[in-house]
Amino acid sequence: MAKIKVTTQALREMKSRGKKIVALTAYDYIMGSILDAAGVDMLLVGDSMGTVVQGHVTTVSVTFDQVRYHSEIVSRSAQRAFVVADMPFLSYHVSVEEALRNAGTLLKESLVEAVKLEGGRSITPTVSRLSSAGIPVMGHVGLTPQHIHQFGTYKVRGTTEEEATEIFEDAVALQEAGAFGVVLEKIPSQLAARITEELSIPTIGIGAGPHCDGQILVTHDMLGLFTQFHPRFVRRYGDMEKTMGEAISRYVQDVRNTEFPNDSESY
Ligand code: KIV
Repeated sequence: MAKIKVTTQALREMKSRGKKIVALTAYDYIMGSILDAAGVDMLLVGDSMGTVVQGHVTTVSVTFDQVRYHSEIVSRSAQRAFVVADMPFLSYHVSVEEALRNAGTLLKESLVEAVKLEGGRSITPTVSRLSSAGIPVMGHVGLTPQHIHQFGTYKVRGTTEEEATEIFEDAVALQEAGAFGVVLEKIPSQLAARITEELSIPTIGIGAGPHCDGQILVTHDMLGLFTQFHPRFVRRYGDMEKTMGEAISRYVQDVRNTEFPNDSESY
């Protein structure tokens, strides 16, 4: 039986009922299917693919075509989860028209249900244009990895009163511009709590404490598949690097020792 898809309306209702929204990143069909079947509400085709899939040091190199390709694959995997595509660096900065065309392509061709943009007040004209065209937009404030070369560090944001006020005002401005939700990344719990209380749209936290309306992690991080960094906000629910490494080592040995394939595995 076909499952009922999570929608922006369902996400708003979850906030008003106090039911936590569960989100994870996905980049391919198998992972998307596993997350969807496990009950994850929202799949983000994150530009974190730049680090955990492509081996880059930052997310800056990820291209629009790569996000378009991975979004199409993930959309096909999601029977219930709401699918959001991350708009990569420079796919929404050059002009509002270009942002609209790119976001529209992700909805029309990759069949995602929303897009995510990093930034606050500086991108509200774009958020407003996309929203009025019927494209659900998720904002992203606090630590915004596409700005890494400007910040120069991945340290926690909003620890000074001035920066906390900036982040708070950015989140409010995104809601006013029509965003249906906002990611809060690596900010103090109390600031995330204040923003969550102020906004009528859901907040999804990553390194922003327990008071957000939902939580997101990079799937490769929480599975222990990508272990090059371990920020303190990542809880590891598995040790997939070890599990996969052990399975592959056994296969290597079996082939070398001519123990694979055996008669029952041959024709
Ligand atoms: O790219 C990504 O995976 C993200 C999440 C960490 C929120 O933006």
